Parts: sequence; C-alpha cells; structure tokens
Amino acid sequence: MKQIWVSKAGPPDVLQIQEAPDPTPHSGEIRIRVEASGINFADIMGRMGIYPDAPSIPYVPGYEVAGIVDMVGQGVPDFREGDKVFAVTRFGGYSDVVCAPYKQVFKRLDWMTAADAAALPVNYLTAYMMLIIMGSLRPGDKVLIHGAGGGVGLAALDICNIIGAETFGAASPAKHPFLIQRGLYHAIDYRNRDFEQVMRDLTGKHGLQIILDPVGGKNWPKNYRLLAPAGRLIHFGVSSIATGKRRSLLGLLRMLVWLPFYTPIKLMNDNKAVIGVNLGHLWQRPDMQRNWMQQIIAWYDEALFRPHIDATFSFENAAKAHHYIQDRKNTGKVLLIP
Ligand SMILES: NC(=O)c1ccc[n+]([C@@H]2O[C@H](COP(=O)([O-])OP(=O)(O)OC[C@H]3O[C@@H](n4cnc5c(N)ncnc54)[C@H](OP(=O)(O)O)[C@@H]3O)[C@@H](O)[C@H]2O)c1
Repeated sequence: MKQIWVSKAGPPDVLQIQEAPDPTPHSGEIRIRVEASGINFADIMGRMGIYPDAPSIPYVPGYEVAGIVDMVGQGVPDFREGDKVFAVTRFGGYSDVVCAPYKQVFKRLDWMTAADAAALPVNYLTAYMMLIIMGSLRPGDKVLIHGAGGGVGLAALDICNIIGAETFGAASPAKHPFLIQRGLYHAIDYRNRDFEQVMRDLTGKHGLQIILDPVGGKNWPKNYRLLAPAGRLIHFGVSSIATGKRRSLLGLLRMLVWLPFYTPIKLMNDNKAVIGVNLGHLWQRPDMQRNWMQQIIAWYDEALFRPHIDATFSFENAAKAHHYIQDRKNTGKVLLIP
C-alpha cells in the first residue's frame, strides 16, 4: 500500500509517500481500498507540530476515507467484500488501504459518490453535534458561523438551511458569492472589518442564538459579547494559532493572552452558555456518531444537501493540497485521491 507520512514537524513539504505491505484486518475490523481521503485542518496543525492529539512523529495522518471493502475480519456482522463504504479513522486515513473497526464504518447509499462520502464524517458530524445536539438549533435562530467557507463551515451552513436558521458567515471575501449562492443570508468580511461591529449593525441589540467559533484568540471575547440571552457560544478550534506554515511560539502566546475565564456566576447572570466540542475525543462512543450519521445520511438521501468538493489532489500532490488550504484558497472540502 501507499501512505503519506508526516516525516517531521514543518511546512507542507515534510509530507512524504512511502510504500508498505497491505495490512490484514484484526478481529472486528474491515479493510477498505480507499477511493478518497478527506483532509482536515487538524491534519495541518498535526503536520506543523501544534496538534496535541496527534501521535508522535512520524505518523500517517487522516481522519476519514471512502472506498470499497476488500477484506472482512472475524466477528464483523453485516459487511461483505465489495460493499461501498466510508469510515472514520483515528489517523492513518492518508493511505490507499485502511483497516478500521466496523463500528466506525458506514455503508454508502448506491448514489453516494466516494468523494461525497469522504467529505461527510468529520465536517458533518462536527456540525451536527454542535448545532443539533449541543446547540439546540431551532428554525429562525440567528447563527454566526466563523470559517463559513471551510469544510465544517459549509456543513454547518447546510444544516442551518435544512432547519431554517438565519445565517451569518465570516469568510474571506473571495468566498462570499459562493456562500450566498449556497444559501448564506449574510456574508461577513472579517478580514477587512471588525466582525463584532458588523454584527451589531446587522442584529442591533438582539444578538445571536448560536455562534460557532473554530478560530479563537481575539474572537473569544467578541463572540461572548455578541450572544443573545439564552445564546450558545460553541468553541471547536483555535486556527488562529496557525499563523504561518510552521509552528510559531508567537501564535501560541497570542492565544494564551486572549484566553477567557467564564465563571459559573457570570454565566448565570448573563444567561449565556459556553460549550466545547471535540469530535476527536469521542472515539470511545461510536454509538453516538452512528446515531448522528443516520440523520445525516437520511438528509443526503432526501437530497437536502450535497457536500461541496472544492478540489482533489493525488497522493503525490499532498503537499500542494496542504498549501492550498493554508493559503485560504479552499471553499469546502479538499480530498486526496490515491
Ligand atoms: N473540534 C472538532 O471536533 C473539530 C472538527 C473539525 C474541525 N475543527 C476545527 O474547525 C476549523 C475548520 O476546520 P476545517 O477542516 O473545516 O477547515 P478547512 O476546510 O481546512 O478550512 C480552513 C479555512 O479556515 C479559515 N482560516 C481561519 N484562520 C485560518 C488560519 N490561521 N490559517 C488558514 N486558514 C484559516 C480559512 O478560510 P477564510 O480565509 O475564508 O476564513 C480557510 O480556508 C479548524 O480550526 C479545525 O481545527 C474542529
């Protein structure tokens, strides 16, 4: 098999292809011939050496794949060779052959492409957990989505559109026409304007029911101030520490300076909720993810959404794919095709 390794912490060129013998599935595992692997921002932070959950370097990154089952381990119910599937992988997804526990593998609908399927697990499960499970999203809610043009951002927009929320999306201005076309109500140019002021102009004193924040840093206090009474601020990333393509101590220090402290008394008196989400820390609960994925697949089946695949790169061009995302060129999902 062919795999992409993070050979050392650094810029995209540290990604290296290596050959290895095909793995044999252990009991309870399924082996998948990979047709598409999803790239996520966590892979980029792992490559830079600033992602605490990543294994020690060298390692093969990758949280999600789609492909065809080509071997089934002992004790696996329901799956057979030739099934079209997609899976959540805990690292190792940048590989053309992957073994995954069957509880983390989902069958594809006949009309679900491998590219669409590889774009579902991380982006849509994270957005679903934030908006539906923890955010109690209701029709008419005002929702601010930071990073609206990214993979999770577009997934959140899709779910808001399905439920009937009013969306505000912060993204680089080049992405605004696409986002509006996809159903975003208000595009916010956070690169050139202070998003807090823009949001005040748009919402007056009323504020927002839900804010999704993967950026952190100086966004933190602004978001909290923008919440309406009974509003929910959901933290799910700190992409602001990725200031360049290598690890920067300054980025980390800047984050620490802005670290907020919410006391129970303050939260009570403000009638606000602050929530944290890390899908990567739910490995012990595949049952929860399966439940949520059933609804996501049902929405796909009803044609209520399709993930937007912005670009695909061959394994040989994995470094180019990481550059593409870090240069903020992607709108939606970027995939590796073995
Ligand atoms: N907690 C969880 O379970 C979980 C799960 C998935 C993702 N995440 C987090 O969610 C965020 C988005 O992930 P994703 O995979 O959806 O992202 P993505 O598709 O790779 O999109 C990245 C986008 O983020 C924006 N961005 C903001 N700050 C940036 C920076 N310092 N460097 C580069 N781009 C920056 C850029 O868009 P604009 O220029 O338009 O702003 C860029 O296009 C990341 O922080 C990631 O760690 C968390």
